[in-house]
Amino acid sequence: MRTPIIAANWKMQKTTGEAAAFAEGLAEHLGDSPVEVVVAPPFTALGAFASALSAAGLDGRVSIAGQNVHAEPAGAFTGEVSVPMLVDVGCRYVILGHSERRALFGESSGVVADKLRAAQSGGLRAIVCIGETLQEREDERTFEVLAAQLDESLASADSRRWPELVIAYEPVWAIGTGRTASPEEAQAAHAFVRERLSGLAGAASTEIRIQYGGSVKPENAADLLARPDIDGALVGGASLDPKSFSAIIHSGSPGDSRAAE
Ligand code: PGA
Repeated sequence: MRTPIIAANWKMQKTTGEAAAFAEGLAEHLGDSPVEVVVAPPFTALGAFASALSAAGLDGRVSIAGQNVHAEPAGAFTGEVSVPMLVDVGCRYVILGHSERRALFGESSGVVADKLRAAQSGGLRAIVCIGETLQEREDERTFEVLAAQLDESLASADSRRWPELVIAYEPVWAIGTGRTASPEEAQAAHAFVRERLSGLAGAASTEIRIQYGGSVKPENAADLLARPDIDGALVGGASLDPKSFSAIIHSGSPGDSRAAE
């Protein structure tokens, strides 16, 4: 049984004060839920968010993630942040290979593989993002693209840590566009990813959680999360407000009446 995992990706949004206010709001709306909750603030707000989570009594309940990391532990890499730095400020997770990193910052799957090795050896759990562009989908190359991204990004994954790994399937055409993959389209991609993972990880692939990402909102989350291979969500826009993020979390908890609030 895979525990659902819902993660907030704030991208380049929220100051320290706004991050602290979010933690207070989350304490008000989160309630009990068997879902694992992760929040990825920008680097500058990680420390403030960690303190605010403790103050709100949520530090054991909500994990913190970096949105990116450098593969080297330290050195002359102006503007970069390392795995030990993220661990130091309280991160348990790191998001790797988000499509914005791939498209806007030239991050290849080879770079993602180096970062994954560094994250795993430094004690961070990774959320590795993959996904096809609209052109690739229209050219019927979705599965080919996903297979290549998975194989290359996970090439140096630590085989003892497969159960900790999280994959986020995020079709690029659905990110920030308001256009979500239908639950059927998403499930088909997730089933393909799971099958590919079984070739890489063997039996442990059944433990790897696969999140869906791309315009997830309180209104569409329950339908997506009900599919057998959709084990959670990576949420951008709808994660900026603690109430809507909490509603998505409740959508991932079977039988939770607050899901529709
Ligand atoms: P979105 O972003 O929910 O705003 O589409 C998702 C993501 O980029 O992780």
